[in-house]
Amino acid sequence: MSAVTPLLAAEELSFAYGPGQPVLREVSLAVAPGESLGLVGESGAGKTSLLRLLLGLSAPTGGRVVFEGHALDRRSAATMRKFRQAVQPVYQDPFSSLDPRMTVGESIAEPLRSLRVTGDRAARAARVAELLTAVDLPADAATRYPDAFSGGQRQRIAIARALAPKPRLILADEPLSALDTSVRMHVIELFQRLAREQGIGMLLVSHDLTIVSALCGRMAVLESGRIVEEGPTGQLLTEPQHPYTRRLLASVPRLPG
Ligand SMILES: Nc1ncnc2c1ncn2[C@@H]1O[C@H](COP(=O)(O)OP(=O)(O)OP(=O)(O)O)[C@@H](O)[C@H]1O
Ligand SMILES: [Mg+2]
Repeated sequence: MSAVTPLLAAEELSFAYGPGQPVLREVSLAVAPGESLGLVGESGAGKTSLLRLLLGLSAPTGGRVVFEGHALDRRSAATMRKFRQAVQPVYQDPFSSLDPRMTVGESIAEPLRSLRVTGDRAARAARVAELLTAVDLPADAATRYPDAFSGGQRQRIAIARALAPKPRLILADEPLSALDTSVRMHVIELFQRLAREQGIGMLLVSHDLTIVSALCGRMAVLESGRIVEEGPTGQLLTEPQHPYTRRLLASVPRLPG
């Protein structure tokens, strides 16, 4: 048992989409407050399915998701409200994750309204401006529509939206893979800054081990729905114990450091 209560934990989660093969098999992992955990594994390993369970978007067939020591349970309105504010998703595709009919400002303010975090219109507008600045976008971006922005800018808008309710943990599913290499570095720096200055933790799904090593102190390796290895990122990258982790590393052309 760790001394700190994890912010979010998977306890022996199992999941299947239908009567066939399970997609997740007794997956356990925990993210401490302020910690960044990388989740890697081949396509089809179950990474997105695991994130969906951790977000409460699908129900496990076994095990449970625990938020600050409380099992996620739709029947507990108080826990769910706290959870929806504290744990925010960022998705892969910044083109489909923003509603094209809403201005950028409306999109960013939406979680503030629905979660009743920030009261009146003026307070919300001020918070939107603050969030746009935090992700290095001009405050007047608020009045424009998503189609006026590039992929990298849209991903930063999506991150601003995720940050709006002051979350403590971001669950990000390949948040950089739709972006150009040049833009990717900016978003990595943004995540690093959020972790450093605001103590926001992250559970990052990525097949790019360079990104995981830049952002995550710890990583877990998922193979066919099972965690096969977990530990400090540096250690896993230099001394992988499991054959599957070695194979994953071997498929990466070059690693820094
Ligand atoms: N909606 C669905 N219905 C049925 N099976 C699904 C569904 N979504 C995913 N699967 C299956 O579940 C398994 C895990 O998929 P998942 O999307 O979680 O993998 P992943 O690790 O995120 O892969 P990728 O790296 O390609 O995103 C795969 O075998 C996939 O085909
Ligand atoms: Mg996926």
